Amino acid sequence: MCGIVGVVSKSKVAHKLIKGLKTLEYRGYDSAGIAILQDGDITILKDKGRIANLEAIINYDSLTGTIGIAHTRWATHGVPSKENAHPHMDQNKHFAVVHNGIIENYLELKDFLENQGFSFSSQTDTEVIPVLMEYYYQKTGNVMDAFKDTLNDLKGSYAILVITPLLPNTILVAKKNSPLVLGIGNNGIYAASDIPAIIEYTKDFYFLQDDEKAVIGDDIVFYDKDFQKTDKESKTIDWEMDAIDKNGFEDYMLKEIHEQPEALKNTLNGIVSLNNPISFVNFSLDKSYLEKLKQIYIVACGTAMHAGLVGKYAIEKICRIPVNVEVASEFRYQDPILDENTLCIFISQSGETADTIAALKLAREKKAKTVAVTNVFESSITREADYTLYTHAGPEIAVASTKAYISQVGLIVALAIYMSEVLDKNTDLCQSLKRDLMNLPDLMNEVISNNQYYQEIAKKMTKEQDLFYIGRGNDYYTALEGSLKLKEISYIHSEAYAAGELKHGPIALIENGTFVVGIVTDPITSEKTLSNLEEVKARGANIILVTNQDIKKDNVIHIPHINSIISPILAIIPLQFIAYFIAKEKGLDVDKPRNLAKSVTVE
Ligand code: AGP
Repeated sequence: MCGIVGVVSKSKVAHKLIKGLKTLEYRGYDSAGIAILQDGDITILKDKGRIANLEAIINYDSLTGTIGIAHTRWATHGVPSKENAHPHMDQNKHFAVVHNGIIENYLELKDFLENQGFSFSSQTDTEVIPVLMEYYYQKTGNVMDAFKDTLNDLKGSYAILVITPLLPNTILVAKKNSPLVLGIGNNGIYAASDIPAIIEYTKDFYFLQDDEKAVIGDDIVFYDKDFQKTDKESKTIDWEMDAIDKNGFEDYMLKEIHEQPEALKNTLNGIVSLNNPISFVNFSLDKSYLEKLKQIYIVACGTAMHAGLVGKYAIEKICRIPVNVEVASEFRYQDPILDENTLCIFISQSGETADTIAALKLAREKKAKTVAVTNVFESSITREADYTLYTHAGPEIAVASTKAYISQVGLIVALAIYMSEVLDKNTDLCQSLKRDLMNLPDLMNEVISNNQYYQEIAKKMTKEQDLFYIGRGNDYYTALEGSLKLKEISYIHSEAYAAGELKHGPIALIENGTFVVGIVTDPITSEKTLSNLEEVKARGANIILVTNQDIKKDNVIHIPHINSIISPILAIIPLQFIAYFIAKEKGLDVDKPRNLAKSVTVE
């Protein structure tokens, strides 16, 4: 969603701010702006739409300031517009603020400030921050006191950067429930909502914790929740620049699809090996705990939830422990029945998804043991969970998740094998699955290498309005994920159905020419799904089949045979390509689909 960049430097910062914002474009946004301190004043430039619109009104030669803040906004309170774009400033032009998160009591604060004679020019919740700072500044005559008093009044979530001519050469920083990292680098000190925005300048990052503050000037001074000075250690993030480059690919999504074998290999590296039981860093479960375990919940949103469904299939097959998979935004309001004999696994690529984090907090309140599975080091979810297991997919930039999904599935299957090994169950199955997991990257490369064929198939589907994806068991879960990929980036409506359910209603929608994508990789259910496909074919449907069976027909995509527990890792690849090629054929922006954000930090 929104993105933040701030720079304090000895040279001009406008270019760096815009460059940083461009790196954050993938988060999804609908307006952008910058504020720069120069000649004792704050200059703000902002506009609706893409960063290119903002750049069109920037005269870099005249923006000589060496301190600035910048923002990309994804509208929550107030429509996408120039007025609502950040930075926001008080009437006296003392404080310019960029903010990620939501100020929940903004209406109450706005009311109070209006009664004190202050006025507002936007519909945003954010604007109360600079106005409140001005109110307290007028009362105290001290910027730091005003900052402190303002933060005390705010309810909700925030990552905030403030610049003010009253404290030149300084950016004030505060964080609560919204990520913020700082780094000292080449020719400046940097702040950002996400590492990619500033990785070019440093690899050593300070991760602010909730309620911590900082003042960036010649150095960084950190403050704890009681506004006492505190020390912080930096942590090194070893990403190379090409991890956030397109590296010769036309789009990030295409690059990330190709990176999947490597992402899986990196995720399982050091965890899965043939001659040793599976082991994780900083995570273990006792045999006595697992024997008492009544149930497991896997809770997540979107694609991460689809990875959870494959996890359910794996854990139930391998460990015979019942697993419920819940959408995080539903789980929270269902009064779930949890206790100390419940294990709750929360999957989130970004580690910042508000619904997933809220669900995790609830599980902890109810005494369940909690495990976070995430791709982002030090993300918010890692601070809430009892344990964290990291996927090592590398930064995922495209909004449509691909390599993170594959890595999540691989990691949860490894977790299922781990639990089974601790329980001394199904030793032979575990051994053969470990072998399969280690062979997967090569098989994935084989599937990826057929992408021209997927492009030919995609071309036939470009003009469709409605599609169906069907399968059974794990193949149904692949259908759900394939259908989501198509919706997200091609804007074509599609439904994923359990193949056996089709005849209980949706088959009424099948007419001459309707495309139905069938996924058939599980030998136990393949005959049944193939019959369901015949049923729709008899009613005029065009069938696309993804299968590891020896079927010779038109429009069949063959993938290598592997245990059905992990077959989604292979079966999803052609479906990712199909969604990608259809979107390209339609001339759409696959990396930044409309209305979507990469990390969904609102509930
Ligand atoms: C994936 O393609 C989607 N963009 C979306 O469903 C995503 O998986 C979901 O929002 C969850 O995000 P998270 O993994 O960062 O929590």
